[in-house]
Amino acid sequence: MFSVKELVESNCLSERSKAIQQLGDACRDWGFFMLINHGVSETLRDEVLRASQKFFDLTEEEKKEYAGGKLFDPIKYGTSFNVMVDKTHFWRDYLKCYVHPHFNAPSKPPGLSETLEEYSTKGREVIEELLKGISLSLCLEENYIHRRMKLDLGSQLLVINCYPPCPKPELVMGLPAHTDHGLLTLLMQNDLAGLHIQHNGKWIPIHPLPNSFLINTGDHMEILTNGKYKSVVHRAVTNTKGTRISVGTAHGPCLDTDVGPAPEMVSDDNPAAYRAIKYRDYMQLQQNHQLDGKSCLDRIRT
Ligand code: OGA
Ligand code: NI
Repeated sequence: MFSVKELVESNCLSERSKAIQQLGDACRDWGFFMLINHGVSETLRDEVLRASQKFFDLTEEEKKEYAGGKLFDPIKYGTSFNVMVDKTHFWRDYLKCYVHPHFNAPSKPPGLSETLEEYSTKGREVIEELLKGISLSLCLEENYIHRRMKLDLGSQLLVINCYPPCPKPELVMGLPAHTDHGLLTLLMQNDLAGLHIQHNGKWIPIHPLPNSFLINTGDHMEILTNGKYKSVVHRAVTNTKGTRISVGTAHGPCLDTDVGPAPEMVSDDNPAAYRAIKYRDYMQLQQNHQLDGKSCLDRIRT
């Protein structure tokens, strides 16, 4: 568990450096943590979840406007992961919107777009604070990641997942084992659990504290840190009880940025473990292969 407040507001140097160290430890040992005291109101979070549910409640006709798009379409509605490459289908509908550097969202239902815009901005603020702390935890200058990843034009992809109740949850996955592209993912959900993360070879079910965010490291954090902060493997399972909604935002570099290990993280003893690749091309690489439990990172290891 990690509190943003200690990171941002602490006047005491030793408290702040303790927070930075805890953040670094969480990234190194888990690639995952719960975030509290993050400053995003419960009202806004509830509104996002409510409006998301309303989007999936629209008629198929209304949602079809956004269906079947390509990877970089600003708004995309679909089922499973990528039905062009999935061998089995997953129990999941999704809505994906690129919300930064340009904001996009469906015009229906009323209010969705405004709510998502406010939420996306707040999410970026939280992530930027975390990335400052993470830079410092790596003995890099506070704005290192921001500058190097060109976050003023950083890509933020908002993904709303809808997992309807499933009669046979032991047989059907919501989302199979995968890692996320990008630096960090910020996730919240309605009151149904379903996220599992892999830790020391075991699946750990996550039960978030009320009002917390779930944060996980992504592939570009692993690339940038040359493997020091690995991206965490996770999955979503289905349940019989009700519709689970989760809202994730993947915060990544600017799409045109070449990302390779930071020179500061590379040495003769620790050579670059990944080849540099444009964020945009990496996303394409991930999209073109089925999610098979292996990270797309395997495709760029040196
Ligand atoms: C994702 C994801 C997990 C969840 O959208 O990439 O991992 O709990 N979602 O829905
Ligand atoms: Ni994910």
